[in-house]
Amino acid sequence: MKVNMREPSRMSKVTVDLGARSYDIIIGDDLLAQAGILIKPHLKAMRVAIVTDENVYALHGKDLEAALSAYETHMIIRPAGESQKSFEGLQSVLEALFKAGFDRNDTVVAFGGGVIGDLTGFAASIYKRGCQFIQIPTTLLAQVDSSVGGKTAINNEFGKNLIGAFYQPALVLADTSVLKTLREREVKAGYAEVVKYGLLGDREFFKWLNTNSKDVLALKPKAIAEAVAVSCKTKARIVAADERERGERALLNLGHTFAHALEIEAGYSGDLLHGEAVSAGMEMAFEFSAAQGLCSEADVKNVKSHFKQLGLTSIKDVAPLLKNAQKILSHMDQDKKNEGGALTLILARGIGDAFVQKSAPRDAVFNYLAQLSETVNA
Ligand code: GLY
Repeated sequence: MKVNMREPSRMSKVTVDLGARSYDIIIGDDLLAQAGILIKPHLKAMRVAIVTDENVYALHGKDLEAALSAYETHMIIRPAGESQKSFEGLQSVLEALFKAGFDRNDTVVAFGGGVIGDLTGFAASIYKRGCQFIQIPTTLLAQVDSSVGGKTAINNEFGKNLIGAFYQPALVLADTSVLKTLREREVKAGYAEVVKYGLLGDREFFKWLNTNSKDVLALKPKAIAEAVAVSCKTKARIVAADERERGERALLNLGHTFAHALEIEAGYSGDLLHGEAVSAGMEMAFEFSAAQGLCSEADVKNVKSHFKQLGLTSIKDVAPLLKNAQKILSHMDQDKKNEGGALTLILARGIGDAFVQKSAPRDAVFNYLAQLSETVNA
C-alpha cells in the first residue's frame, strides 16, 4: 500500500471519551494531504466512500482523492445546500452505497460542512444497520460543532433535525487550512458556534475571544487552531458526560431554539445560514434571560456589542422573519428538547453561565417575541 508518509506540520488532538466508542478529533493545518495515513488505523477494509457536495468537491475533492489514492475510493457528490438534508438526499446517498456494493466494513467519509456531515452520518447509521464513518469537516461550523458528538439528522416539514440518530464517527479530521476557501460570511457563521462555547460556560474564553476574535476570523493559524481546539475540548467534555442529551448537552443548544424557528421561517434557504440564525438566536436567549430577571442588561450589551463589532448576524438583521410571534412560538413548540408539551429553553444567568430551563413560561416567551417583533419591525 502506498500512503503519504509526510508528517503534518501542526497538529493537536482532542479525545471524545465514550468508552468503546471513543474517538479522536485531530486538528491541524495541511491535514488533508495526510488523510491517507491518518485514517488508516481506523479502516477495516480498503474501500472508502467520500460523500461531499459540488462546491467542496470543486475546491478540495482532487486533493482528498490524491491523499486516499492507496484505497479504492468512490466519490458521491451531492448538490450543495440544506435541501440535501431530506429523504431525497438520504435516498441518493444510500443508493450510491448500494450501487458501489459497500458492506459494513467499508468506510463512509463525510467531506464537507454541517449538511454533508449530518446527512452522511445518518446514512452511515442506517446503511446495513450501521457502517464505519469518518468526518472530515470543511467549514468552521462543522469543525467546532456538527462533526463532533454524533448527532446526525435530516429535516422535514415539521422542523430541523427531527429525523436522525446518535451515531459517533471513528475519527474527525479538522484541517484548518481548508477554511481559507470559505466565504467571509461562512467564517462568521461558524464563529457564532465558537463564541457559543464562551457564552454557555467559559467566560475566560469569551474574554480571550474579545481580544483575539479578529485573528480568528482572519484565520490566522495560531488563533484559529486555538479557537477550534478550545471549542472541540468543551464539546468533547460535554458529549462524554451526556452523549444522549439527557441533561448538560442541551447547553450546546444555546440560542438554537430561537435559531431553528428563524431557519424554518427562512425556508432553510441560503438567505440565512445556520450560524447566522444561531448568533441572532443567542442574542434572543440573552435578551429573554434579562427580561426574566435572570441575567444582567450589561451582559446582554456585552454579547451584542461583541457580535456587532465583528459583523455577526443580529436580531435586527432577521427582523422580517420575526413578524409573526405566534408562528415563531409554534415552530419552537416542535423543538426536540421540549417535554410533555412544555418548552425547554437554554437561558443564561450571565456570560459563561447558561442553564437548561424546563417548562419555560410560554406566555412570557410569547410576550417577548411579540414585543420584539413590534420593536424590530417598527
Ligand atoms: N450541536 C449541538 C450538539 O451537538 O449537541
